[in-house]
Amino acid sequence: MRRAIFPGSFDPLTNGHLDVLRRSSPLFDEIIVAVLNNPDKAPMFSVDERIEMIGEIIPTLDGKGCRFIVDSFSGLTAEFAKRMNATAIVRGIRAVSDYEYELRMALMNRKLEPSIETVFFMADEAYSYVSSTLMKQVFLLGGRVDGLIPKSVEERMRSRLPEK
Ligand code: PNS
Repeated sequence: MRRAIFPGSFDPLTNGHLDVLRRSSPLFDEIIVAVLNNPDKAPMFSVDERIEMIGEIIPTLDGKGCRFIVDSFSGLTAEFAKRMNATAIVRGIRAVSDYEYELRMALMNRKLEPSIETVFFMADEAYSYVSSTLMKQVFLLGGRVDGLIPKSVEERMRSRLPEK
């Protein structure tokens, strides 16, 4: 059983995340989309809402035999991966600017749990500029984000807009 975790904030899930999930699925039997419960951040969506949104979308993905699960965790990613009996941590790289941060995290996670490898997937270039932070910012200022986040996520974001 090849199990991986795909950790992140997912506030909210973007099409870039889905692209990484799709690309990583042929390599694993099971991927746990692991939503970080970070009490230091003021998110747009609660962890439960994020889990619900991801849970609605992942059954529509063709996992090519890979099962997708969604869960949340607090604390260290490496510890969560170990506890879940995962052998890999999946992360996406959009551009060279992601590399340094991702490298430091991967090395730290390896130091914490040497048996777990971080595996990187290059996101489609169409999503190279897509981040949850940018999506929220543009959306809240009235810009268009269609094609960059799932429709159901966009609808939930719309319900967050203040009444005009
Ligand atoms: O979606 P993000 O914000 O890029 O995800 C970052 C995440 C959740 C993978 C990272 O912040 C993380 O692993 N946090 C958990 C705490 C931890 O393990 N820190 C040490 C990592 S080196």
